[in-house]
Amino acid sequence: MITTSTPGKLYLAGEYAVVENGNPAIIAAVNRFVTVTIAKNQERCSITSKQYENHRVHWERVNSRMIVDDRDNPFQYIIAAIQVTEDYVQALGKPIQKYHLSVNSELDSGTGKKYGLGSSAAVTVATIKALCELYQLKLSKVQLFKLAAIAHFNVQGNGSLGDVASSVFGGLITYSSFDRQWLAEFRDKIALPELLKLEWPRLEITPLQIPSVLRFLVGWTGSPASTSRLIDKVELKKGKHGSQYERFLHESNKCVREITNGFRQNNSKLIMQNINRNRELLQSLSTLAGVTIETPQLTKLIEIADHFGGAAKTSGAGGGDCGIVLIEANCDITGLQAAWQRAGIEPLNLAIYNYEGES
Ligand code: PMV
Repeated sequence: MITTSTPGKLYLAGEYAVVENGNPAIIAAVNRFVTVTIAKNQERCSITSKQYENHRVHWERVNSRMIVDDRDNPFQYIIAAIQVTEDYVQALGKPIQKYHLSVNSELDSGTGKKYGLGSSAAVTVATIKALCELYQLKLSKVQLFKLAAIAHFNVQGNGSLGDVASSVFGGLITYSSFDRQWLAEFRDKIALPELLKLEWPRLEITPLQIPSVLRFLVGWTGSPASTSRLIDKVELKKGKHGSQYERFLHESNKCVREITNGFRQNNSKLIMQNINRNRELLQSLSTLAGVTIETPQLTKLIEIADHFGGAAKTSGAGGGDCGIVLIEANCDITGLQAAWQRAGIEPLNLAIYNYEGES
């Protein structure tokens, strides 16, 4: 038996801007996991998952590329992860094995609802990590990221892949998105082992630490959102508002830079100011693109956090899912969470997750 777990994630800042090549976001890996278990030496390949059962698709390795067009279906990511890893295995001249792969996700509520904690990225990374053990592949973290990024990109096709980086590296990171047009052009032209060795244009991943006086809180609105569809909508509109969109990018990058400085300098005021600023920028993007990023329930979550002295914003694509708060440890955190509960918002008991002892 092989078992691997990878963490979910939450965006702290830089959402949407990070979808453009070379733009940064700040992302935290959180202590809820997707676990993949592989039972070796089976007669045939199979995949099961309690949480994903209602998404089940038929899977045959021979024709596993894109069986149904559903970018929110977790099975697509599992299959893409298997495909890309086994392409790599074959490129190394190793034989393909038969196994049973099962997935257990703490990032999904069990009633088919997602928390918006990056389950598609976490399941992609966990599957690849488990297969790396099965096939005894020795990949560095950056190579693991690249393999998982290719698999995830093959399915979703429009995200920044910051969630994949978070799941691979853990902790708190700034992530600058690499040039995905470059990947789209070269993924079928360069052999996988070579592609993993190359330097990918504009990719940058840097670890950060949260100052000890700050607490990181998360509230869940209970309504799921589709990130890929929200990105599509923003992409459609951005050409129409070129200069305003450029300004959004510029200001978002400035915010991420300031928050990064705040983390490096233990300056909680600077961090909180720029979390608030990033919220405003996302509100302006929302108006520009005509998409709902901050739903009424997210606004409630943010206003309550604000009332208790926290700096809060939507996390990720918005449209539902979670909101995040950074708040000084001496504030009334219990009071804030109780107020959330009265407003129908579920406080999630999450902490930033760091991989220990892994290089
Ligand atoms: O909704 P989430 O948590 O998957 O985050 C999406 C963040 C975006 O910047 C909107 C998209 C992306 O891929 O970075």
